[in-house]
Parts: sequence; C-alpha cells; structure tokens
Amino acid sequence: MRISGEKFRTIWQKPNDPAIVQIIDQRRLPHEYVVQDLVTWQDGASAISDMLVRGAPLIGATAAWSLYLAAVEHKADTECRQHVLRAADVLGGTRPTAVNLIWALDRVRQVIARTAADTDLVTVLEREARAICLEDARISRGIGEHGLALIEGIASRKQGETVNILTHCNAGALATIEYGTATAPIYFAHEKGIDVHVWVDETRPRNQGSQLTAWELAENGVPHTLIVDNAGGHLMQHGMVDLCITGTDRTTRTGDVANKIGTYLKALAAHDNDVPFYVALPSTTIDWTISDGVRDIPIEERDPGEVSMIYGRSNSGLETVNTVASDTRISNFAFDVTPARLITGLITEHGICEASEDGLRGLFPDLAGTRR
Ligand code: MRU
Repeated sequence: MRISGEKFRTIWQKPNDPAIVQIIDQRRLPHEYVVQDLVTWQDGASAISDMLVRGAPLIGATAAWSLYLAAVEHKADTECRQHVLRAADVLGGTRPTAVNLIWALDRVRQVIARTAADTDLVTVLEREARAICLEDARISRGIGEHGLALIEGIASRKQGETVNILTHCNAGALATIEYGTATAPIYFAHEKGIDVHVWVDETRPRNQGSQLTAWELAENGVPHTLIVDNAGGHLMQHGMVDLCITGTDRTTRTGDVANKIGTYLKALAAHDNDVPFYVALPSTTIDWTISDGVRDIPIEERDPGEVSMIYGRSNSGLETVNTVASDTRISNFAFDVTPARLITGLITEHGICEASEDGLRGLFPDLAGTRR
C-alpha cells in the first residue's frame, strides 16, 4: 500500500520519540493528509471514538498502542498496572461493534497478567502492540493471496475482460495496518496485472467509500468508479458487477457478519442477481461466543449530526454544511448484519470457507471455542 509512492502503515511510533504514537487523521482525507500525534492514552481513546482511526483491525491496534501510552505515562509509578487496566476499561467502551477492540484489549490484559514487575510494562506493552500490527499486516497478506485466486478465476472465465468488483465502506489499508481486508485481493490482483475495476459505494453518512476507499485506490493506481449507495442493485441487474467483497467488524461463529450500514442491502441485491457476495475477514474479527448476528451483535448508533451535516470542499475552503431542516428527527445506525445464508464465502488468512460454523471451524480449529 502506497501514499504518494511511499510505502506506509496506518499507525506507527514517532521516529526519534517512541513515546508518541502517530496516526493519519482519516476525518480529513481526501482533502488533507494530516498526521496526528497520540501522546496520552486518552488521545488514543478519542481517536477511536471520534473516528480519526476506524475500521475493526485498526481500532484494535490503536487500543493496544493506547495501553502502551498509558504505561509510558506511569512508568515510574507503583500504580502503573492499575492505571493501564483502568485505561483498558475505558477504551473498551469507545466503539461497540468492532470486536477487534475487545480482542486486542483482552490480549493485552493477558500479557499484563503474565508480567510480574510493573517496571517491565512499558517494554512488554510496546512489544505487544508491535506484534499485533505485524500480525495484522501478515493476516491481510493472507487474505490477499486467497482472495486473489477468486479474482483470477473470474478473470480467466471472462478471458481477460475487466473484472468488476463492488465494495462498501472502507475495508482497505486505512482500516487495517496495510493492504486492508476487502481490498487486499484487489491490490494483489492489480499488482499481478489482472484488469480489475472497483465500484466504490459512497457509504453515507461518514462517506468512507468516497473519502477513503476511492482515495487509497487512486494512490495505488487501481481503476475505480464512485457510485451512490443505492446504485449497486441497478449495476447488478445489468451484469456490471462480477463480484462483491466487503469487510466486517464482527463475524459470528456461524458466519453472520456485521458491517457498515447498507451492506445487507448489497447482499440482498447480489443474491437476487446471482452475483457472488464474499466477505473478507481476519480471524481477529470472529466472535466465537455468539451465533445469531441479528440478535447478538451490538449495533452502534451514532450522532444524528453525521446524517444532517456533510463535510467537503466548497469554493471558500473546507467546511461542514447542514442539509436538513433543524427539526427533522434523525436515526443513525452505523452497522447492519448480513446473515450467513446471503454470503457466498468468507475470505480469511487461512483460506476461503462457507459462511457457516463448520466452515469457520474447519479453517480455525484452534480458535473455535475460545472466548473471542
Ligand atoms: O465505522 P467504521 O468506519 O469503523 O466501519 C468500518 C467498516 O464497517 C468497514 O466496512 C470494514 O469492513 C470493517 S473493518 C475492515
């Protein structure tokens, strides 16, 4: 994944000052590329809740780095461990749907429990946050390799004609550490010279499609076209979509997936038009404790202002404008659940499987039965 031709990751320690963690403020893209310092663990918590960072894997990684920052702040303090654990409790409430948040916090809590001396916490938590990032990058590459086979199959059936892939929201490099989940197979196919073209859903209300996915595809030279969220069904009816790939924020052990609001409608349209609908996910997104996505996955409801206001560039600069009458009642569910029966397959770092308990257990026999 490149920005202006340079290889990049989405979260890193500041060169020459490892006590500061840096991120891209994703709210400002595509208009401005702003690197934001995270100095305290509260900075990390706000970055997650205010969506400077977003996307399930990056939320998890940011939480892990925030606990490192909490340890740095209290490194000479006998209360260091308690302080970090209190920070973990607060971080756990920053966003409810992406399970990677809970997964990362639990993983760091276990590491803390195994660390005898409080004075070692800074080193240990730094190592763990780095490990989480390295693993996520490796996982994305695995998803990319397995998903590539799918795209190669379609390209060969179409005898080299363009493969048209529809995606929703941003499950790209910006949502992970690098490569992304849904975009990883697309980047791999593009790098291999396969003629791919991506239909990018705008993804109201936060516009992760128009502001993030379109931007990162452009930075990497992948042909794409932005569409309004309601266009997908029409494109599918007219044979203009060969494959849908989305990401997910939480997957039940039975293969139901929660993803950005509107994903379910795309899956319904794909089902009606015999378009294969795949979901790309790291194993860290599977919640092995739940089986019914509609019943069990908490769906985040966000500020009504995200629906009434829109941010962009006008003739006088960057601004946010109101688009509705002030007394309009607004609801803003941020995610929906696509039942496994509408999903053709799940693309994971271990391979592609049916969206079912057997499918996931087959690929991850060691994880099945674990808490998350
Ligand atoms: O609200 P966000 O931007 O954090 O939601 C992210 C998504 O829903 C993405 O589509 C993504 O698939 C999940 S993370 C790879």
